[in-house]
Amino acid sequence: MSAPLAHLRDVGDLDEGRVHALFDTTDVMAQVLERPVKRVPALQGFTVATLFFEDSTRTRLSFERAARAQSADVMTFAKGGTSLSKGESLYDTVATLAALHVDAFVVRHPAAGAPHQVARWTDAKVVNAGDGRHAHPTQALLDAYAYRAAGGRPFDATKVVILGDVAHSRVARSNAALWAMLGAEVVLCGPPTLLPPALAALPGVTLEHDVERALEGAHAVMPLRLQRERMDAARIASMAAYARHYQLDAARLALADPGAFVLHPGPMNRDVEIEGAVADGPRSLVTAQVAAGLPVRMAVLYHLLVGKEAA
Ligand code: CP
Repeated sequence: MSAPLAHLRDVGDLDEGRVHALFDTTDVMAQVLERPVKRVPALQGFTVATLFFEDSTRTRLSFERAARAQSADVMTFAKGGTSLSKGESLYDTVATLAALHVDAFVVRHPAAGAPHQVARWTDAKVVNAGDGRHAHPTQALLDAYAYRAAGGRPFDATKVVILGDVAHSRVARSNAALWAMLGAEVVLCGPPTLLPPALAALPGVTLEHDVERALEGAHAVMPLRLQRERMDAARIASMAAYARHYQLDAARLALADPGAFVLHPGPMNRDVEIEGAVADGPRSLVTAQVAAGLPVRMAVLYHLLVGKEAA
């Protein structure tokens, strides 16, 4: 039994060996989910708290299901209906839940670094479920796993294009780091106002403003949600202009490798960053990504709370 993972705050908490071990455990968890009774006792006696200060559909529900499928107890904390409305701080909220014997916190927060702070305040394990524009490591793991499970090329023979609103995207940052760690060629593409030049410093990552040039020969294409709620300036002329220049439509997808897969982390703005027909088309992994989220998050909780080998 190898040592449990300390925390999963960002992709930097992983190395390539741990990622492949997580994928191996995910394969086992996926088999569990094929059984008539989709539950194992692996995390019996552990308590997982989901601590969400921002809205979520996929991440919160799949983490809660991932914990319950391994027989852990689950505590759900969300913005509404809690003492946050009375001014309780993040520190006091964490201290309160920790006093109820939480073994792992799954944290989503609008402030970058909040999960790192939670990890300093508690002895429990911490998983980052999305912090500001910074990181969303389990989204990157499930995206890469879904690509691999669909029959994608080996990562070190893969060109992945992450397209669109990179500036506001924690998913882009975590995916760029993870796919580059696995040996892929990573291209970040978007208009200059949505593509921070500093990201060129990421190892294994290049920036490209020309979408047609970026897509040439790509094996995986990941359009990103245009995050209108995080826009702090007039970064695009209009939605229509953005869609005209950067939408992943069928004509643009035809520039990629014929076997290219399309990934979208969700939620989607259909017919803005992705044409509806592409989202629903034969190369789309959108539903497979959501499905992969469950065994991947089961594996993450298992690696945090028990250790590396699957039960
Ligand atoms: N991809 C993602 O994080 O989705 P949710 O916001 O629904 O969790």
